[in-house]
Amino acid sequence: MVWHRRPAVFLLLLAVTLADNGVHIRSEYKQLVTSSTLQWVAGESGTLPPNSVVGAHEVLQAVAGLEDEAATDTTREVVVCRASSDGMWVSGELRPEQKSCIVAFLGARKSYERYQVLENVDGGSRLAWVPWNKFNLVPTGAVACGEGVETFIARRKDESLTGDRFSHHIGQLDPKVGLGKISIVNKSGNVQEFSDGEVLVETEPVRYELTGLKFDLWRKRQSRKPRVLATSVLSNAGSTFPVNVDSVLAYDSKYSVYWGQGKAILKGLPTTVKFANGTLIDEVEWGIPQTQERQEVYRVEYKLEPGTAVNVTLRGNDTVSEMPYTGKLVSVYKDKHAEVRTIHGNRQEEAMLDVRPEFGPVYFITNNTLVPTTFISTTTTTTTTTTTTTTTEAPGTLPAQQQKKQKNLFDENSVHAVKPGDNHSMMSDDGGAHSLKNKQERGFTTAGSGALSSVTYLATGVLILFTYAEIARRIT
Ligand SMILES: *[C@@H]1O[C@H](CO)[C@@H](O)[C@H](O)[C@H]1NC(C)=O
Ligand SMILES: *[C@@H]1O[C@H](CO)[C@@H](O)[C@H](O)[C@H]1NC(C)=O
Ligand SMILES: *[C@@H]1O[C@H](CO)[C@@H](O)[C@H](O)[C@H]1NC(C)=O
Ligand SMILES: *[C@@H]1O[C@H](CO)[C@@H](O)[C@H](O)[C@H]1NC(C)=O
Ligand SMILES: *[C@@H]1O[C@H](CO)[C@@H](O)[C@H](O)[C@H]1NC(C)=O
Ligand SMILES: *[C@@H]1O[C@H](CO)[C@@H](O)[C@H](O)[C@H]1NC(C)=O
Repeated sequence: MVWHRRPAVFLLLLAVTLADNGVHIRSEYKQLVTSSTLQWVAGESGTLPPNSVVGAHEVLQAVAGLEDEAATDTTREVVVCRASSDGMWVSGELRPEQKSCIVAFLGARKSYERYQVLENVDGGSRLAWVPWNKFNLVPTGAVACGEGVETFIARRKDESLTGDRFSHHIGQLDPKVGLGKISIVNKSGNVQEFSDGEVLVETEPVRYELTGLKFDLWRKRQSRKPRVLATSVLSNAGSTFPVNVDSVLAYDSKYSVYWGQGKAILKGLPTTVKFANGTLIDEVEWGIPQTQERQEVYRVEYKLEPGTAVNVTLRGNDTVSEMPYTGKLVSVYKDKHAEVRTIHGNRQEEAMLDVRPEFGPVYFITNNTLVPTTFISTTTTTTTTTTTTTTTEAPGTLPAQQQKKQKNLFDENSVHAVKPGDNHSMMSDDGGAHSLKNKQERGFTTAGSGALSSVTYLATGVLILFTYAEIARRIT
């Protein structure tokens, strides 16, 4: 499946999957699209989901003269609900301590004990009541009552002046009746129609920032699949003295990272990921796994007596790790407004780790018999270099700045990613570069042939061999 950058496309795809309880909003192109952060939740006889969208308050007047306390009004929340009336969704209000959703349908008050309540999932949605009158168009982001019909959730100020009252009454806007009308059921239970009021509007963020990351190292899971990445034979066939023979083994590896999707987060939105101290970890499009095909090379070196050879196998573990995390997701809106919420996710990473060469026993080239071990002074040097090409599941969805290498952040065994051209990089091999270098120097002195250190023989490789020049050209 190919994801496109245009939100409308994936929103339409989502619309198919969320058809049951999906909430539709009016897009800037005027058709209805599915909201990623709102949903309708079925309820009965007064039940409500958490994060129900509040559209009004009931104001209970304080009864004066009661003992000592100063008389203050109490307010209770009225939430947005909808009910199916003759197969049409009509929005209305669920009043406190009432067991039914009250709607105005075709000029009559109706109440339903089975209804759906509008939920702002994880508080991920930014909602506002936007003034509307019959001379205005329905605003972009207006939340629709249903799917097929273009009516929208709206409210109107309560006009009663005395006694217990409501701040507003929630009903619906039908833009097709005359120049548009908002119908509500008022306090005395009558339907009233208005040519002005407020419409519920959802604004979607333009990007996210994931910060304050904390990883749950105890719940980290990892699976390793051993792989043979390359094989080669190093041989000293042409000289009469011991030589450091080296070879460059090339292999392909896949690197991918996925921060998860999570609830009520827009797929595909540009997202920056940072540590608690502000260090940038990653730039991704939210909810889309980022995959890179990397071409890597690994240099091996072995000191061989004349007429001897050694087989080398480059092994690695294809490692998939999963690590739960907690972070603060900041939704940033077009008007620079930002909202923060805590999310829990699972970071998945696939990488080729534990890459190291395995040398076989040294043997005579002429008769293939093994060289007695006392005869051998082994020195090995290893380096690795990387070139990378980046792809994602959706070719072409990555912004240019993301087409860069990513580090394997959390694996203590990880290959230290190397900048192309950095020829003094190292593997987290036993001891690291310095100890290897020391071994190498010791090897030369014992063999008494330090002058030969610059002589390099290309091994006859089963796989691909490069000279340094070739590597350099390939990398640049
Ligand atoms: C409710 O609407 C009816 C009919 O339009 C009207 O007569 C009545 O005054 C309204 N009641 C309140 C409290 O606004
Ligand atoms: C920020 O924290 C990460 C991991 O905790 C660490 O690797 C990095 O070096 C830190 N950066 C700075 C600038 O302190
Ligand atoms: C070295 O590899 C060759 C095949 O490339 C194989 O025939 C030979 O037995 C190997 N020798 C040793 C000592 O492993
Ligand atoms: C691959 O992982 C296993 C553990 O699952 C480990 O024993 C082995 O040494 C690793 N391979 C390499 C080449 O490090
Ligand atoms: C194999 O060849 C090497 C040198 O070419 C020689 O020293 C060794 O004795 C030979 N081994 C056998 C078993 O023939
Ligand atoms: C790479 O090696 C060359 C020659 O061996 C050297 O001049 C250069 O400084 C090295 N580059 C790095 C980044 O170490």
